[in-house]
This record gives sequence, structure tokens and C-alpha cells, in this order.
Amino acid sequence: MTVAAPTFDLVVAANRLPLDRVVDDKGESTWRRSPGGLVTAMESVMKGRDAAWVGWAGEPGTPPEPFTDEGMYLHPVGLSPTEIEEYYEGFSNDTLWPIFHDVIVPATFHRNWWNTYRTVNHRFAVAIAEIAAPGATVWVHDYQLQLVPAMVRSLRPDVRIGWFNHIPFPPVELFSQLPWRRALVEGLLGADFLGFQRTADAENFLRCCRRLLNMSTKADTVTFTPPGDDPDARRTVRAAAIPISVDFRSLDALSRTPEVKARAAEIRASLGNPEILLLGVDRLDYTKGIRHRLKAYEELLRDKAIAPPDVTMMQVSTPSRERVDAYRHLRDEIERTVGGINGEYSDIGSPAVYYLYQSYPRAEMAAMFLAADVMLVTPLRDGMNLVAKEYVACRHDLGGALVLSEFAGAWHELHQAFICNPHDVEGVKQTIMRAVTAPEDERRRRMKALRKRVAVHDVQRWASRYLEALASAPAKPRRPTRASDEERRGEERANRSSQRALDNASERTEDL
Ligand code: G6P
Repeated sequence: MTVAAPTFDLVVAANRLPLDRVVDDKGESTWRRSPGGLVTAMESVMKGRDAAWVGWAGEPGTPPEPFTDEGMYLHPVGLSPTEIEEYYEGFSNDTLWPIFHDVIVPATFHRNWWNTYRTVNHRFAVAIAEIAAPGATVWVHDYQLQLVPAMVRSLRPDVRIGWFNHIPFPPVELFSQLPWRRALVEGLLGADFLGFQRTADAENFLRCCRRLLNMSTKADTVTFTPPGDDPDARRTVRAAAIPISVDFRSLDALSRTPEVKARAAEIRASLGNPEILLLGVDRLDYTKGIRHRLKAYEELLRDKAIAPPDVTMMQVSTPSRERVDAYRHLRDEIERTVGGINGEYSDIGSPAVYYLYQSYPRAEMAAMFLAADVMLVTPLRDGMNLVAKEYVACRHDLGGALVLSEFAGAWHELHQAFICNPHDVEGVKQTIMRAVTAPEDERRRRMKALRKRVAVHDVQRWASRYLEALASAPAKPRRPTRASDEERRGEERANRSSQRALDNASERTEDL
């Protein structure tokens, strides 16, 4: 006897579940928190809701049975080793990721990767359709699942579908390189509402609809006739910016605990109590600008503007996508550079760079944020960058300074940070020095304003704004009614006759 799966009014789908299953050498499996900003943000939104999360458990092979964690129903989707290679490492992270991040590294195109991407997206859609209650809200996340909205719509026309892009959406000139550009746009247009980090991203998407698919757009909506459908089944989809944030209150509370404060002091002490501790925390990704940051730091050491042990830097690089070539090369390059800097500028007991290729629990991260005088967030392109907001949320003492790239989505909200262009090494050096030497009252003033922004625009507000926008997005396919057909014909007649009147008038004017 097969037992029917439970159904939910809210179903979230993301490539990863919030937990990864890791199998150790002895074959024993444990669950570990998944990497990345998406999971961090969504986890806090989902806790306490009677909702389900559909995603991959991070390991190859047969998926574990669905289970409940902290009130959340987790529904694993399985990926075979080939699917991991072609859908996840290949199409998602070696085709789409570079195209969506300014082609910082070249994108790779393979037709079999695309086929596998379609197959896996369909598997997600089937899993969603199975557990969505009648009329449920389905919230799909990120670039790995761009075909899912249209696939879910064809399986379950009764549900409301939203998609949120955690990364930038590229300009049409880059998006058009994708041989499958049309299918991707059509996949997204299965949604009722498409959310983006910045208005520029939503505009880029609407421009793709106009320029590549000849669709008509008005303000933040696009209207089109779905392929193969009844020509009257026109739909309107809204695309707008709703920038993501962090769980301000819980990070603020965590960083105020005696344990985290004591750990922050301990970290500083074990680094030799430097006057200034610079900190970088990133997934090891070429979009994060780690090389550019290290170059600026190296030149400051070379120029003797700063020197250890008074000033030192800690770079935490979280392992990421380690089997993709571009990531492997980046790791080699960064580790070579760190080695070079340390060889040249460290002394016994006072390294110039502390480099940590590891991931850490939340409390340890909060302690690092609290310990750091200057936080360096200098991506070349980033959808949002939640590390910047996490740092701000942890600085309840109004200490610390944030150096922020203008190419991070966070820049659009965090104007009181010390802003830099990461491509301009001279500019980055000057900005770091401004942050290092800024008077305390200026730093406090800036931090206070930054905290105010993040406290109000937190992740809970983001989620409720998103869900409201989804609920009020243009409803059912807009079928022109008989009455509106009549109205349209009437309007056309009126337009024709006023045009005739204008033509006649201008003829008369020319006659004069
Ligand atoms: C970014 C993406 C997420 C992704 C995360 C970690 O934040 O927007 O979709 O999950 O990076 O990357 P990974 O490839 O390890 O899932």
C-alpha cells in the first residue's frame, strides 16, 4: 500500500535543502548546514511555518526519505553522479553562473548539460506538484531552477507560483549568448511573480522578454501568449525588486551573548591583539573579488602604509564547488598569493594574512565579525552579499567599519559603508585606509545608520513583502471577456475615426 504524501499550503523549492547529508569514512551519515546565503536567509523565514522545502540533500544517489526538521518538512530530490556533473556543476555553475556574473570567467556550453538541466528541473516540478495543497503557494528559488515555474504550472494550474533570483540577472547582451535563452525565459514566465535583488535585474529580465521574445512590457510587467496555448490565454507576469536580508534580531542577540563576546576577545588575543584586524569572509568564488582584495592589501604592505603585527588580515574562504575547474584554479591562485604575501611580509609570530579554508558555525562567525575592525566585502559582482548585512547586524557595539563594493547588491541599501570599486586597486587601497583611520565617532555614526537600515529591512520583512507581492500579482491568465472584446473593438473604431479626423485636419492645414 502506498501512503499519500502530506500536502502543504506553502512549498519552497531550492537546489539545496537547508541541510546537507554527509557520509563519513565509516559510512555513517550526519546532517550539516548547507553553504550559501540562500539557505541562511530562507531557513529563518521557514522555521515555525507549516511548510515544505523541496531540494537536493547534497550527495549523489537515492535521496533520503522525507523528514521533518524544526517543524519544516524536508523533501529530498535525488541526483545521480552524472546529474551532479551536468546539471549542478555543469549547466548551473559553469554555464549560467558565469553568464549571470558578468562573464568574469568564460561560460561553457554543452547540449547534454542543458538536457540534464531540463530533466532535473522536471523532477523538482513533479516533487512540488505532489506535495502542494490545492491552491498552494509555490516559491521557487534561484538560477538552478529556472524551468520549474512553467513546469509546475502545466502540472498544477491551480497553484500560485513565485520565483526569486538570489544572484544578478544579466544584461540582454550577455543573456543572449545562451543557446537556450528562449526556453529559459519561457520557463520563468510560468510564474505569477518574479522577484529580483535590484531594479536593474528586473529591468534586464524585462528587456530580454522584449528583445529576444518580442513580448510587450509595461512598467514592471510583461504580457504574452504562452506557446502552444489558446491565443486568448494571454498572461501577465510582474518582475520587480525585493532585496533579501538577514535575520537581524537573531544575529544581534547572538552577538550579544557572553560566549560570543568572550570568543571575540579570545580571537583577537590569539592574533596578538592587533590594533586593526581586517577580515574577509566569502565562499571561495571568483565573483567575490578575493584576488583583487589581496592585491590591494599586499600593495599597502609594500608601501608600508600598514604592517603586522599592528595591522593584520584574516581571510576565511568557505570551500565551494570544488570540482569545477574555475574554482580549483582560483583556490590555487589565492593560496599561492597568500603564501607569497606571508613569505614577504610576515614575521615570526606575526603573519600578514591568516588564511582559513573552512566553514564555521554561526556563533563562531558572529565572534569573528565582532572581533574585526574592518570588514572587507569587495565582490566583482554579487546579487546581494549577506555577509555585509550579517556584519552590520552583529556590531551592536557600533564598532567596526564596512568596506563595500559598489558591485554588490547590498551597496544599493548600505550607502553609509566605505564604498569602493574593486577593479580600481588604488581606490580599494585608499578606501581601506579611510576605513582604518576614520575617527571613532565617524565609524559609529556610519554603523548606526547601517544597522538602522538592516534592522528595519530584515529577512522577515523581505519574505512578507515577497509573499504579498506574489499574492497580489496579476491573477489567472487574463482572458479578454466578450465585453472587453467589444470594448477593444469600440476603442479601435474610435481610434480610427480620430486618426481620420487628425489626417483631415492636417490636410486642411497644409492647404492653407
Ligand atoms: C549562492 C547561490 C545559492 C547557492 C549558494 C551556495 O548563494 O545563490 O543558490 O546555494 O551560492 O552554492 P552551492 O553551489 O554550494 O549551492
